[in-house]
Amino acid sequence: MTPDLRARLTRIVGPAHLLEDPDTRASFETDWTRRFTGKAPFVVRPGSAAEVAAVLAACSSAGQPIVPQGGNTGLVGGSVPRSGEAVLSLRRLDAIEAFDTVAGEVTVGAGVTLEQLQHHVRPAGWDVGVDLASRASATIGGMVATNAGGVRVIRYGPMRHQVIGLEAVLADGSVISRLPGLLKDNSGYDLPGLIAGSEGTLAVITRVRLRLIPARPARAVALLGLPSLDAALEVVRTVRAAAPGLEAAEVFFPEGLELVLRHARISPPFPGRYPCYLLIECAGPSDPAPALAAALEPLADPAATLIATDRAGRDRLWAYRERHTEAISAEGIPHKLDVTLPAGRLAEFEASVRTALARACPSARPVLFGHAGDGNLHVNLLGIAPDDETADDVVLRLVASLGGSISAEHGIGIAKKRWLNLTRSLADIHAMQAIKRALDPAWLLNPGVIFDPDSFAPPVPRLP
Ligand code: FAD
Ligand code: MLT
Ligand code: ZN
Repeated sequence: MTPDLRARLTRIVGPAHLLEDPDTRASFETDWTRRFTGKAPFVVRPGSAAEVAAVLAACSSAGQPIVPQGGNTGLVGGSVPRSGEAVLSLRRLDAIEAFDTVAGEVTVGAGVTLEQLQHHVRPAGWDVGVDLASRASATIGGMVATNAGGVRVIRYGPMRHQVIGLEAVLADGSVISRLPGLLKDNSGYDLPGLIAGSEGTLAVITRVRLRLIPARPARAVALLGLPSLDAALEVVRTVRAAAPGLEAAEVFFPEGLELVLRHARISPPFPGRYPCYLLIECAGPSDPAPALAAALEPLADPAATLIATDRAGRDRLWAYRERHTEAISAEGIPHKLDVTLPAGRLAEFEASVRTALARACPSARPVLFGHAGDGNLHVNLLGIAPDDETADDVVLRLVASLGGSISAEHGIGIAKKRWLNLTRSLADIHAMQAIKRALDPAWLLNPGVIFDPDSFAPPVPRLP
């Protein structure tokens, strides 16, 4: 860092929030999976949107690239430095403001964690439409930046669908603000919709206005052991049609359950081993358990079916699913591939990906789980070196051949940018690069994430 930039940043955020010491920087430099790590010249922690704007203006004039960071729970390597980027931590933007308890809307700072917001709005009868296991650390800004999905997409959609407006700072320090509180506003391009899912490459999100959902305290969770993923998908179709308020339909398999039992030190849900496990949650204004039990009756084996309605019982069943991520990471450093398939091809994918991996990369240990209701499987690969991408290539090409997407909810980040053209056309990629160039001409915001300036360039025409 140049002395001039250090002096400017110190004036903006104060010396306590400009971290240069390697020990204090360390937790900002390695991602949650431990697969991605790099050195940042400094970490800067602004405390307001105005400070974010001033920091970006200073970095922009110094040509200093930046990685925006929220809770650092991202799973594709996009929240940590790679080659000289400084970390811009948004965690101090943690104010919860303007909670409209009648309309069910709230404005929050980008650094508010999902769990803080849940605790704030639930007592007033509202909830956040997106929920995920990283709720204690994931920030609202990071969730919008990644367009996070989570366990309730089947009912409420991903994070982009919850966003009514946002405030964000562009690379040069200028502030765009769409926090209108207007029900209708078609005055030009939808910038919040564009920034949601842009993974910190277009703008730094500072405040978000979210639409809330009514809290539904009456809940029932069922966990079933089933003979196959096909059978699980059949149960999901039946419950969707017959039981009201389906909120989650999650699957996992014996290899993942075994890791959860071992690392979380919990007992199996029921005796016996099943090829596939399905967790279903229904919620509504009144107890959904009777309708859920009736819908499950013709399809479920009573010896492998548990239903819980009280909080502790529901949490116990959810633990088998939610603790997969930490159990896999306790086993090793995984490659995490988060893919989505057309609903009709999900079961075919699950079977073929195991066969294809066993043939091409016998050392890879796949651990699959995911959001069955959304066609979204998480393919975790243990037993391979962090930089060996052979197995990733096998999985992602198979996904593309079945009409799927190489990222369902985690984003492209660093981990998957090599394969972006498998499921996005060159025209798409060039349009995205043009938008990036227009908003960040010097390519200073999260450079290297999603694509590079010259990735997938059109072939240069040969002169005759
Ligand atoms: P970070 O990890 O800090 O950053 C993620 C990306 O967003 C980076 O590219 C970063 O540059 C950018 N970014 C962060 N903040 C901002 C900002 N204010 N402005 C602009 N860009 C920003 N994800 C799901 O989608 N569904 C799940 O079910 C899910 N479950 C998870 C469970 C566990 C146990 C863990 C560890 C992760 C899980 N994730 C899940 C992944 C992760 O929690 C989400 O991607 C989350 O949205 C990241 O939020 P964050 O604040 O940690 O962002
Ligand atoms: C989940 O669904 O639990 C997450 O997306 C995290 C993961 O993929 O490990
Ligand atoms: Zn997920």
